[in-house]
Formats: sequence, C-alpha cells, structure tokens
Amino acid sequence: MIFRKKLDPSSASFFEQKYRKTADPWNFEKSQYEQARYDAIIAALAGRRYHKAFEPGCSVGALTAKLLTVCDQVEAIDFAASAIATARQRNPDPRAHFQVMSLPERLPLLGFDLIVLSEIGYYFTAEQWSEYVDSIVSTSAPGSTLIAAHWLGVSQDHRLSGDEVHATLRAHPNLHLQHEERHPAFRLDRLERS
Ligand SMILES: C[S@@+](CC[C@H](N)C(=O)[O-])C[C@H]1O[C@@H](n2cnc3c(N)ncnc32)[C@H](O)[C@@H]1O
Repeated sequence: MIFRKKLDPSSASFFEQKYRKTADPWNFEKSQYEQARYDAIIAALAGRRYHKAFEPGCSVGALTAKLLTVCDQVEAIDFAASAIATARQRNPDPRAHFQVMSLPERLPLLGFDLIVLSEIGYYFTAEQWSEYVDSIVSTSAPGSTLIAAHWLGVSQDHRLSGDEVHATLRAHPNLHLQHEERHPAFRLDRLERS
C-alpha cells in the first residue's frame, strides 16, 4: 500500500498539485459566481484608472484580464508555476507581468497605486497576514487603493476566515474604508491609504 504524505495547504506544492490535476480548479474562467465577483471588484473601483496594480495569488489570470481594462499595467504573482503558465497564455498582453513567486518573497512593494487582494488572505496565519498587510501599507503611496474580496465559506485549507482577513485590513491605522459590500458568499472592501 502506498501512503502519500498530505501536503501543507498553505504550501506552493499543495496548489501546484491542484493545478496539475485540473488547469482551473475553481473554474475561475467560466463560473458565473466568479465572473460576477470579478465584475463587483471592477465596479467597486468606481471608474478610477490606475497606473500599476499588484495582484498576489493571481491563479490562472482570470481577474488579471479584468484588471487590465482599468490599469495601465498589472504585476501578478502566484507561487504555483502551472497557474502562472495558464495566466500567461490567457493574457498575451505586454502590460501584464506574471511571475512565479510567493507573496512574502515579493515584499516590500513600491510603485503600485492599486493592490488587489482577492481570495488570498486566508492562506496565512493571523501573524503573517498582519505582517504582510503592514508591509504592503507602509510601502504604498498616500492615496493608493487597496481592494479586498474574500469568500465567506469555511474550508479546512484556510487558516483565517474571510471576515478575519478583512478585519485586519479595516483595523490598519493607515487604511480607510471607502466602500463595502457583503454578498451571501463573499465580501468586498475598498480602502484608501492615507
Ligand atoms: C483561491 S485562488 C485565488 C485566485 C484569484 N486571486 C482570484 O480571486 O480569482 C488562491 C491562489 O493563491 C495562490 N497563493 C496562495 N498562497 C500564496 C502565496 N503565499 N504566495 C503566492 N500565491 C499564493 C494559490 O496558488 C492560488 O492560485
């Protein structure tokens, strides 16, 4: 009998294995729910245009495609190489820059006026999330936008709930809530860096 070691659900190998089994494990490209969630994110940006967005945990680049409609450039990272390969194929746009990298490896950030945290915060411990948010905020320019959207369900792969992820953002002294939405399955906040 072969026993496979269970992978840590916050590791790159765990996600890479998911993407090797199914190219788009959450059906981001086709799911009506995900497309409506992406449309809500773009609508919440309220018509503002951005110079450069940062999108960690970009997966197969489905949200990246929408961000390119409101941003001059998007830098998108994911630590799963197979996801980045699909994202590159899906977005053959020189304004989109994809890299295989983990969020903490990419910090500190500089030069972004939009940070998009979509379905990423709950893969970290409370201490890690708080540290990464603090790093992102401390290196962002005043007036830049941080938009966050997270599912409200429960998963054994998550270390924080969607509500805990957003509570950390809303409690940051240099982030100010501009817009909030609570849907049956996800919540969305737009905050401005002071
Ligand atoms: C649920 S998907 C979210 C995809 C996308 N942000 C969206 O909303 O459509 C989570 C993605 O985050 C990536 N991820 C998780 N932890 C990460 C980390 N520490 N650094 C970079 N990517 C990470 C996973 O590989 C996966 O592709």
